[in-house]
Amino acid sequence: MKKIGIIVSGYRKKNTYALVESYKKGAEEAGHEVKELFLKSFDLRPCTGCESCYTTGKCVIKDEMHNFYDLIDESDILVLASPIYFYMFTSDMKLLFDRAQPYWSMKDAAGGKQEKKKELIYISTNGQPYQMDAYHATFKPIRMFCGSILAKYKGNYLVSNTDRNPVKERIDLLEEIFEIGKSSENLISFEKHY
Ligand SMILES: Cc1cc2nc3c(=O)[nH]c(=O)nc-3n(C[C@H](O)[C@H](O)[C@H](O)COP(=O)(O)O)c2cc1C
Repeated sequence: MKKIGIIVSGYRKKNTYALVESYKKGAEEAGHEVKELFLKSFDLRPCTGCESCYTTGKCVIKDEMHNFYDLIDESDILVLASPIYFYMFTSDMKLLFDRAQPYWSMKDAAGGKQEKKKELIYISTNGQPYQMDAYHATFKPIRMFCGSILAKYKGNYLVSNTDRNPVKERIDLLEEIFEIGKSSENLISFEKHY
């Protein structure tokens, strides 16, 4: 049994969340413990660049970010889910990454030699028909965040053309991501883009 943490960005439960829901159902059916948090539901403030975490490994901002630190720490598999806004993930996801600087600082201090025990999955959707660069800008930050929290990048599930073809109508994709959730115990790396 794995502990799966899902962090969802954005303000609506539509295309991206349809994928999250199917993934979650698959994982729960296989007996995994799933906990999801919506960034929009918490009082989260931006990183001020105070650099306290460089020495302490802790963030000094007193808000509700501790919910996300706890989820990241306790998860065997962390799922990040965000729609594409202006060729990027949403701004609340960026805030999460900036606030993950304590992980980066501690990894740096340890010389980056710690074992990677977690896995990370990235789920996203975008409105326009598939273009090579639709997700391009998101990959580097997602991978850097992944490295910061000492996770192995396990895969991404990216669905384009949601303006014309909403995810809820794409039953084959919902079934496929359900199976990915179900196979969480021994997940094979995957790169899906539709
Ligand atoms: C502010 C905003 C910016 C967007 N920017 C893009 C974009 O750059 N490229 C794109 O293909 N779709 C863009 N879209 C469309 C969304 O990516 C698409 O509708 C996505 O499936 C929304 O996911 P959701 O239904 O989970 O909110 C944008 C939508 C909004 C509201």
